[in-house]
Amino acid sequence: MKVVTVVAPVNIAVIKYWGKRDEELILPINDSISGTLSTDHMCAKTTIQASPLFQENRFWLNGKPQDFDNPRLNNCLKEVKRRAKPSCPILNWKLSICSENNFPTAAGLASSAAGYACLVSALAQLYEIDGDISSIARRGSGSACRSVYGGWVQWVKGESPTGEDSLAVQLAPASHWPEMRVIILVVSNETKKYSSTSGMKTSVETSQLLPYRAKEIVPKQVERMKRAIADKDFEAFARITMEDSNSFHAMCLDTFPPCVYMNDISHAIVDVVHTYNQLKSSNKVSYTFDAGPNACLYLLESEVEEFLSVINYVFPPRSGSIQDEYIKGSKVKQLPIQE
Ligand code: ADP
Ligand code: DP6
Ligand code: CO
Repeated sequence: MKVVTVVAPVNIAVIKYWGKRDEELILPINDSISGTLSTDHMCAKTTIQASPLFQENRFWLNGKPQDFDNPRLNNCLKEVKRRAKPSCPILNWKLSICSENNFPTAAGLASSAAGYACLVSALAQLYEIDGDISSIARRGSGSACRSVYGGWVQWVKGESPTGEDSLAVQLAPASHWPEMRVIILVVSNETKKYSSTSGMKTSVETSQLLPYRAKEIVPKQVERMKRAIADKDFEAFARITMEDSNSFHAMCLDTFPPCVYMNDISHAIVDVVHTYNQLKSSNKVSYTFDAGPNACLYLLESEVEEFLSVINYVFPPRSGSIQDEYIKGSKVKQLPIQE
């Protein structure tokens, strides 16, 4: 019997991925950029056991048995095995995979990113493969390729129709900008109405804004964002992050039928951030929303205390729980992080 356990972080995109040019290979229509959060508060944890005595493959997610016959899981497994040495003694052993997220699953908090980065890192250790594994994690969930690296990460969309060049690259380690913090405001733990996969498919099929965003808006914003991160220019970083979140949700509303992910509380958070920034005469806090109502706020450490006191005043405890998340040089490591 061979056993590995791996923990993997979520990442929160500041330039969003939304739309595939190839559904099967999970190839995106635009580049995206994210920050990888430390695993202190939010992470996926996966244990894989391989044994010659197991009769069949098994997979549990958050304690519930899943169908192993899942194409994404099998694409990852196939690709890892393809890269394993033919002499690897466990290639024919059956697997028992057990994965858990310590935060809401399928609620717009990047569970598929942490989950598949974790699964692929664990498989890579199990079958002892080397080299970049982000393009394998991508076959599980697009955003997962970015969770393979710490710090600031770009998913380069690539040009090849077969996808070898569609992978993640680290733009800067977390230590480059150690003052950066992320606050997650959990507005709702509920599973989203439409998964990211189906939402973005409908957007590709129906949104007239989508091709314009992918071709005209995102490439320029990616370059600006890379400069803002390289220069540690928070004012610019915050502006681009908020613009991209708004552009992404505009495209979601332009989808038919519309993908409505943000709710009244999400919009109230947007208002609080803008009011705060206006009072400070500069962008001190930025928001970004994934495919769900929960807010991810990027801000510098110097602002955390004051901004949290405003949040606690405007949203007294009932409306949502608050967790601090940190992008800290010493804490964000490149995956896999083995226990
Ligand atoms: P999210 O916004 O949380 O990423 P998605 O709709 O993108 O939501 O993906 C949710 C799906 O990702 C789940 O239904 C499940 O299939 C998969 N997933 C989430 N966590 C894990 C995990 N730890 N291991 C394997 N798959 C996972
Ligand atoms: C809004 O990576 O979850 O979080 O590739 O179909 O699994 P699939 O979708 P997924 O989409 C993430 C969308 C997003 C933006 C982002 O993380 O870039
Ligand atoms: Co996801």
